[in-house]
Amino acid sequence: MSIWDYADQNPDFNDLFNKAMTSDSGMMNLVVKDCKPVFEGLDTLVDVGGGTGTCARTISEAFPHLKCTVLELPHVVANLQGSLNLNFVGGDMFQSIPSADAILLKLVLHALSDEECVNVLKKCREAISNKGKEGKVIIIDIVIDEKKDEHEITGTKLFFDMLMMVVVIGRERHEKEWEKLFLEAGFSHYKIKPLLGLRSLIEVYP
Ligand SMILES: C[S@@+](CC[C@H](N)C(=O)[O-])C[C@H]1O[C@@H](n2cnc3c(N)ncnc32)[C@H](O)[C@@H]1O
Repeated sequence: MSIWDYADQNPDFNDLFNKAMTSDSGMMNLVVKDCKPVFEGLDTLVDVGGGTGTCARTISEAFPHLKCTVLELPHVVANLQGSLNLNFVGGDMFQSIPSADAILLKLVLHALSDEECVNVLKKCREAISNKGKEGKVIIIDIVIDEKKDEHEITGTKLFFDMLMMVVVIGRERHEKEWEKLFLEAGFSHYKIKPLLGLRSLIEVYP
């Protein structure tokens, strides 16, 4: 069974995994203030596969005018409390993604195969199509760059690559591999900026 079905059937594992992701997302506090331009001009944002909402909560507090929604598997968001500008929706990103000005995917695509990434990215493109050229997908994930990165950083990224290969059916990707997925899903351009530690922030435009 997939790790997500396993989590659904094993509450202790579900709790452990979600707590691990919560701690990872807690670090968003350190960088969100440097990302102001990324969120400027947006009225709505959906954090797809947003876990228990740590990242969306940080963003919703830093940008109180921004209406944030976390789309997650029902067993992850059952009983979670939102706030004035944060709400939780149980669902499946492969089926449907609520419309928004921007869709956030943090550490979601690296757990997916190329084919699954293209399917999710196409759904994201449909979800932002109302906003025309201003809409975008914001990806926070690993980009392998052995030329720019220190040797140890590349080594750690490759450990994540192995982890994704073993635990799910995902992988870490070089910029060219990311670009291929974006173009296949119908997006026209993107920009990448290194964020914190192993992560980069990629803005992808229709
Ligand atoms: C690696 S975690 C990332 C969580 C969060 N974005 C973060 O960075 O803290 C991937 C998340 O995707 C969610 N997920 C997996 N399949 C999904 C699906 N089909 N629809 C919605 N969410 C899904 C999982 O429940 C999990 O919380």
